[in-house]
Amino acid sequence: MNDKIFVCRCEEITIEELRMCIKAGFTSFNELRKILRVGMGPCQGRGCRELVLKEISKATGVPVHFLSVGTFRPPSKPISFGQIAKMNVCDVRIFESQKNV
Ligand code: FES
Repeated sequence: MNDKIFVCRCEEITIEELRMCIKAGFTSFNELRKILRVGMGPCQGRGCRELVLKEISKATGVPVHFLSVGTFRPPSKPISFGQIAKMNVCDVRIFESQKNV
């Protein structure tokens, strides 16, 4: 039986890998994103961000609400090419302007 516990299912990162990296000194979400790719899967961290922050908090003693949630990149929600194709020009301009926020 496989007893691995996945923290980030999109990138298949286990709790053991996460804890090793935190123990090695990577104690921010962005550092862990760069080294492990947590939060870089199709859900953009919606499935793992909270779990990763809780693990950082547990290891460092810093409350979760004081931790940086990392950098978000648009689209914050996956959308299909069909939805983009149905957008009118104004929607596309709004979408483009939000990319630089
Ligand atoms: S669960 Fe981590 S990016 Fe989706």
